[in-house]
Amino acid sequence: MTDPAIFVADQLSFAYPGHGPSLAGVSFAVAAGERVALLGANGSGKSTLLHLLDGLYFPDAGTLTAFGEALTEARVETPPFGPRFRASVGFLFQNSDAQLFCATVEEELAFAPLQLRWPREEIRRRTDDVLALLHILRLRGRAPQTLSTGEKKRVALAALLMTAPSVLLLDEPTAGLDPRSQALLLEMLDELHASGVTLITATHDLALLPHLADRALVLSEEHTLVADAPVDDVLHDVDLLLRVNLIHVHAHRHGDVVHVHPHQHVVAHEHGHGDGDGHPHEG
Ligand SMILES: Nc1ncnc2c1ncn2[C@@H]1O[C@H](COP(=O)(O)OP(=O)(O)OP(=O)(O)O)[C@@H](O)[C@H]1O
Ligand SMILES: [Mg+2]
Repeated sequence: MTDPAIFVADQLSFAYPGHGPSLAGVSFAVAAGERVALLGANGSGKSTLLHLLDGLYFPDAGTLTAFGEALTEARVETPPFGPRFRASVGFLFQNSDAQLFCATVEEELAFAPLQLRWPREEIRRRTDDVLALLHILRLRGRAPQTLSTGEKKRVALAALLMTAPSVLLLDEPTAGLDPRSQALLLEMLDELHASGVTLITATHDLALLPHLADRALVLSEEHTLVADAPVDDVLHDVDLLLRVNLIHVHAHRHGDVVHVHPHQHVVAHEHGHGDGDGHPHEG
């Protein structure tokens, strides 16, 4: 690998205090400019892993480096690494309510730049650009708490984009979005990827997977990493998808004959984001 590693995780383990493991011996590396999916069933550890990558939680065992430096609690809190890391990595939470806390959308977008002591005029200009980019100029004066789920998601992403992070951690970014908003978000992510931003996206949406990532890290329900492979290979590995409960076997009876076949969301469209329930595509 010639690209510099953004993250290197070596045998990461993590448990919430008083609970069993949420991640058990997970190892992988992510290079600059990659589009990687964290794939796994509910509770497999995707969100937990994103919190570790964002330096919000720290491993109980194993090591994690970011931009070639150990990502420890002490370092994340100390300049120059800490502020540089925070400015470089943006985390779109699964629940937007957890990251929107200002009185208006405009203040939400200004928050991080003000911490970084940007001049007011520059903040205003960048706010105009980012709101226009995400088609939410009309939301500028609104209270984030009063917005719809999809609107909140866009505002949260807009706030992250203000400081032009080079890495985005996205936790189920398409969940709860209508088809048009999903398409818009995917276009945005494509553009960010094309401009060199590294994307790490947690999802269990197999239909959107090829639009979100080129490579998938698959977590089992035992919180171990069971695959690290191109998205296309993972989508064709029915045994793996069954084993980690991302598809389920559907049994039904025709007369005396019981048919058993896996169900999943089909990946079929070049541009569409249809999610008809169907069978794994063959190719
Ligand atoms: N705050 C917490 N305290 C205790 N256990 C937690 C906490 N948050 C998550 N867990 C547990 O850690 C494991 C991993 O949870 P996590 O939220 O990372 O899963 P996930 O893959 O993101 O799931 P989902 O698809 O539902 O978002 C689960 O067993 C969950 O119950
Ligand atoms: Mg989650």
